[in-house]
Amino acid sequence: SLDAPAPPSLAGRTVVVSAGGTREPLDPVRYLGNRSSGKQGVALARALLDAGAHVRFVSAHVETPLPEGVELTTASTAAELREAVRAAARGADAVVMAAAVADFRPASLAETKIKKSPDGGAPTIELVRNPDILAELVADRARGEQFPPVIVGFAAETGDARASVDEYGRAKLAAKGCELLVVNEVGVDKGFGREDTSATLLWRNDDEPGRHVAGTKDDLARALVEVLSETLNR
Ligand code: CTP
Ligand code: CA
Repeated sequence: SLDAPAPPSLAGRTVVVSAGGTREPLDPVRYLGNRSSGKQGVALARALLDAGAHVRFVSAHVETPLPEGVELTTASTAAELREAVRAAARGADAVVMAAAVADFRPASLAETKIKKSPDGGAPTIELVRNPDILAELVADRARGEQFPPVIVGFAAETGDARASVDEYGRAKLAAKGCELLVVNEVGVDKGFGREDTSATLLWRNDDEPGRHVAGTKDDLARALVEVLSETLNR
């Protein structure tokens, strides 16, 4: 109708999207991974392209086809993803960290395949922390790096006896210092790999309860593109 709002436009804008799960190698044939399908990041790339954005897609392990027309970089480990995201983020208008980044990696990488010992024992795998790519972008921007004015995180939360999904989301947003956090409610039958999603978009400089989006990953992607276009065109 004549009253319909203008569709969101990101023409002339460059948006970085990281997506999929990282893999942290243990030996030449094994890794520690996670169940991220990358579908949300791919849906977001599609919605961004539809809005006219240039999309730099930093792909970890994504189990679904990518849309045509993205500027693609691939990464396997968190360390590789970090380098790729930082390179793509320079001079971009926004970064969305939809990737599921491993918090830990094996302290050492065995050069040869780990074999079972005949005594029936099992090895203990020592882990070390990975850098927080998102928090580093925010911190380095404050130190003058040319990282985007809009940095967006994704958080998958379950909520528990101590706090709700949104409370954990607020705390994570404050800890990360990014502009926007998409808090996804996950559970055994929600989130990873599923088509439907339930999420809240939380702004850092905002006491409002946040914008709730229920529906498909494409619905969430379109909602995020709307708020990105409102913010960047303000
Ligand atoms: N993230 C990141 N680098 C990491 C871990 C997470 O950039 N090493 C990003 C994710 O891409 C996501 C956001 O941080 O956008 C939140 O990830 P999440 O795992 O929910 O947060 P964590 O700070 O790792 O907290 P938790 O201990 O709950 O896993
Ligand atoms: Ca984590």
